[in-house]
Amino acid sequence: MAKNIPIKIEVYFTPLQIDERQLKDKNIVIIDVLRSSTTIAMALQNGAREIIPVKNIESAMRISGGLAGDVTLRGGERNGKMIEGFELGNSPSEYTEERVKSKSIILLTTNGSPAMVAGRSAKNLFVAGFVNLSSVVQALKNLATDFMIICSGQDGKFGLEDSVCAGKIINKITKEKDMSFTLDDSATAAAALDKAFGKSVPKLLATCDHGAYLASIGYQNDLEICGALDSIPVVPFLAGGIIRTMKQKAQHPSKLAG
Ligand code: MLT
Repeated sequence: MAKNIPIKIEVYFTPLQIDERQLKDKNIVIIDVLRSSTTIAMALQNGAREIIPVKNIESAMRISGGLAGDVTLRGGERNGKMIEGFELGNSPSEYTEERVKSKSIILLTTNGSPAMVAGRSAKNLFVAGFVNLSSVVQALKNLATDFMIICSGQDGKFGLEDSVCAGKIINKITKEKDMSFTLDDSATAAAALDKAFGKSVPKLLATCDHGAYLASIGYQNDLEICGALDSIPVVPFLAGGIIRTMKQKAQHPSKLAG
């Protein structure tokens, strides 16, 4: 896209702000810093074949059939804790190479995976957190067209960590000299939130509502993993309901998934 055609950036602070039909053929970034974006990035980095996000237990059971535990693993959480009968929780620390290499992972989380399922009809859908922020920004630069950022939030409520991450993506991409941008009010607000709260990501994650909750149930270490900026340089890309790693040389991501 030429510099004189501005790229429009819109932000939705919770998935409740948007009807899934509005996402058809759009370019979307889904953010769930704590923790599903980070878990997905970690699983792909450690060789998982694919992640299949689902929105409820019934879908997880139906898709896994009798195969779970072998080539297919079920991961996820309710109230931050592993779901009974699943093989993995939603702590990125569990998604080691030893556990996930070559596996298909069915992922069910409270806010993140349903938002990803809602974006199935998007033209391009990337999953972002602090851990892969620059890689996703590069993919958006390659795309060079309008995009929407959807923050997963927490049970329909605003989440500061996701909103700051959205703002950081915006503040980084808008530094690009060869492109011009227009931001909606929410994107402008997210950019300001990053400037106000994003200087120390570890401090942000320790003090935001969901970070404090995770620490209180024993997942303090996850906050460090989820806050390590650009530590997992992968671009999780959803196509046909399945998330795989996008090859970063792509000029047009929708043609090069998988
Ligand atoms: C979610 O989808 O709400 C989260 O990833 C929750 C968590 O496990 O921290």
